[in-house]
Amino acid sequence: MTAPVRFLTGITTTGTPHLGNYVGAIRPAVQASRRPGTENFYFLADYHALIKCDEPARIQRSTLEIAACWIAAGLDPEQVFFYRQSDIPEIPELTWFLTCVTGKGLLNRAHAYKASVDKNTTDGKDPDTDVTAGLFMYPVLMAADIVVFNAHQVPVGRDQIQHIEMARDMASSFNHLYGEHFTLPEATVDESVATLPGLDGRKMSKSYDNTIALFAPPEVIRKQIAGIVTDSRAPGEPKDTEGSALFQIYQAFATEEETLQLKKLYTEGIAWGDAKQLLFERIDREIAPMRARYQELMAHPAEVERILQQGARKARERATPFLARLREAVGLRNLASQASAAPKKQDKAALPVFKQYREADGRHYFKLVEPGGRTLLQSTGFDSPREAGQAVARIKEHGTAGLDAVLICPEGVSENDIQAALARIRQPA
Ligand code: TRP
Repeated sequence: MTAPVRFLTGITTTGTPHLGNYVGAIRPAVQASRRPGTENFYFLADYHALIKCDEPARIQRSTLEIAACWIAAGLDPEQVFFYRQSDIPEIPELTWFLTCVTGKGLLNRAHAYKASVDKNTTDGKDPDTDVTAGLFMYPVLMAADIVVFNAHQVPVGRDQIQHIEMARDMASSFNHLYGEHFTLPEATVDESVATLPGLDGRKMSKSYDNTIALFAPPEVIRKQIAGIVTDSRAPGEPKDTEGSALFQIYQAFATEEETLQLKKLYTEGIAWGDAKQLLFERIDREIAPMRARYQELMAHPAEVERILQQGARKARERATPFLARLREAVGLRNLASQASAAPKKQDKAALPVFKQYREADGRHYFKLVEPGGRTLLQSTGFDSPREAGQAVARIKEHGTAGLDAVLICPEGVSENDIQAALARIRQPA
C-alpha cells in the first residue's frame, strides 16, 4: 500500500456559511474527503479568527455554526480529522519554533499585512496604525497548522497561495537547521469549482452583502432568491442565460439535463418569477435534508462539542509525538539525557541557499539566503523560471560580476558576505 496523501484546510471561524461557501468550499471538500488513498484534515481556525474579531460571543457562535454546517453537509468525522485549532496546543508551540526560523523580512512581504501598511501610508498615517502583531504573524500560525500534520496538499483560494509558499519557506528553513522533519506543502487551487455569483451578479461574498443563506428557514431563502437581479424582460420574451446570475446559481445545483431544460425555458420566455421558483425548489431539494441535521446540531451544541473533542484526540495522537520529536531536535530536552554524541548534521545542512520563487506579479525571482534567514542577494523579476535559473547558475559559477542590473543587495550586506556565502556553496560537502 502506498502512503496516503494528506490534504488539509482551515476555516476561519468568523461569520456564518452561505450558499457560496457551500458550493465553493464545503461541498467539494466533503466530496474530496471520500477519495481513497487520502487523509483529510479539516479544522476550525479559531486562533486565526481572533486576529480579525474581538467579539467572544461571535467567535463561539461562528465556531458552532461552521462545525454544524460541515457535519450537516456530510463530512464524516470518523473518516477525516475534524478538529478545532485551539484544542491542539501543539499548534501554538510549533508556531513559536517556526517564528524563530522565519526572517522578519519574509513576513513584511505578506499581502494582508502589506495591504494594511500600504493603506496607512496612503492615508498619511503611521504605517503601523491598527496593525496587530497577530496580523503580522498570521502566516506563521498558518504554517504551523499545515506542517504540524505534514500535509502534502492545501486546497485554497488564490488569495492564500502566498501563505502556502511562506509555509514551505519556513518548513525548509527548519529542515535545513534541524534535519528533515517537515514535508514541504503545496497549494492546490481547484479551477473547476465554480465561484457562485451573488444576488447582484458579483461573486457571492459576505463583504458585498449579496449572499444567499445556506441553512436559513426556507421563507428567508425564498425571499433572498426573489432579490436576485434580472433584466426587465417581460414574461413571454426570450431570455439570455449568458450573464444571468439566476441561471448560474441554478447550474451549480442542477444536473446537466436540468440545466438544459432551464435553458430551453429561458428561450421560451419563462417569467422571472417562475424561474426563481424553480431555482428555489432545486436548491431546497439538495439543502433541506442537510438543514434538518443542521438544526438538530444547533439545538444540541454539546453534541458538536463532543465531536470536536473526539477529533482533537485523534489529531493529537499525531501531533503530540511529533512535537516531542521537534522539541528534541531543537534542544528542548530532558537534562538527564546526554547530548547525543552524533556529530551535528549542521555543518552540511547549514549552507546558504538560492531560493527561486514566483511573486504575485507573475514574475520569477530568486534570492540568496543564509541559514539564519538573512537575505544576501535579491534578484529583480525574470520572465521565466528558466532565465532566473540561468542567472543563479552563472552566479554560482562566476560570481555576481556583470549582473548588477538584475541584482539588489539588501542594506547591511557587504560584498564580503556574498563572496563568503558563494565560496561555502561551492565547497564540496
Ligand atoms: N487563512 C485561511 C483563510 O482565511 C484559513 C486557514 C488558517 C487555513 N489556517 C489554514 C487554510 C491552514 C489552509 C491551511 O481562508
